[in-house]
Amino acid sequence: MDGDLITMDDMTNEEIVSLLDDAERLLPVAHGEEFLPLLQGKLLANMFFEPSTRTRMSFETAMKRLGGDVVNLGDVKSSSAVKGETLYDTMRMVDGYCDIAALRHPRQGAAQYAADACDIPIMNGGDGAGHHPTQTLLDLFTIRQAHGRLDGLTVALVGDLRYGRTVHSLSHALARFDCELIFISPNQLSMPTDIVSDLTESGAKITETDDLYSAIPEVDVIYMTRIQKERFPDDDEYEKVAGIYKLTAADLTAAKGEMIVMHPLPRVDEISPDVDASRHARYFEQAFNGVVARMALMCKLLGIDVPGGAA
Ligand code: NCD
Repeated sequence: MDGDLITMDDMTNEEIVSLLDDAERLLPVAHGEEFLPLLQGKLLANMFFEPSTRTRMSFETAMKRLGGDVVNLGDVKSSSAVKGETLYDTMRMVDGYCDIAALRHPRQGAAQYAADACDIPIMNGGDGAGHHPTQTLLDLFTIRQAHGRLDGLTVALVGDLRYGRTVHSLSHALARFDCELIFISPNQLSMPTDIVSDLTESGAKITETDDLYSAIPEVDVIYMTRIQKERFPDDDEYEKVAGIYKLTAADLTAAKGEMIVMHPLPRVDEISPDVDASRHARYFEQAFNGVVARMALMCKLLGIDVPGGAA
């Protein structure tokens, strides 16, 4: 892994597994049961040009739990972006202020652009409808925690596969661990054809359908996603597909016992609240896992070993 995390292609499978192992050892630190100031003296720039709750807060929590500190861009409307400052200039400045930066931006490709402008490590916290690799790390952590492995699972990715960046990054990673992927979406929101052909060419087993309910008994993971309203060219198009999938506790009676339901959150109405109490629900644990995954990632990018790993 060289200095940045922009897409999952920046990590080998071995690097992913070793990072998940590091993350696991950091669980007591994330829970506040141990204090381990591995990142003392380090400063994270949280550069969020788009709304974020979990990603921004879990980066901040991760840095502070490891003894480091954080500076935030704050509200974009009160930043110099409104005066017309370019992303390049803003990031060049951050490069001088901080040791590492997390960037979220509405434009696809913005994270790579920022990485090209900076010497410090850049972590892509979501670039438009492009990628979201730090979410993938916590998703993989959650899947491995539940199933004890990543290899050979059957995973349904459901909802907005067109604009959803979480599923773009996750499908690439799961395919590399020989998972079987079921892409479930209405036709208008299907997985971009370039991603499907990339995955198929690399040997991934993929099924595309719009039928969620028939897939439920087959799968080890159901990964629900929000319809990405903000990426639609117009409201009418959004209205045609809004609320298309709604998973309820009753739907899960057909599921395997160990099947888990995930969601990167925020949810709108894709998962009924009655699923929260079921043995299958994992989305709140998944959000918590963002802290350990991002702790392990920042240690890795800053060249700091997490104690207790293989020599
Ligand atoms: C996702 C995102 O921003 O892409 N949220 C997150 O990071 N947990 C998913 C979404 O907004 O629907």
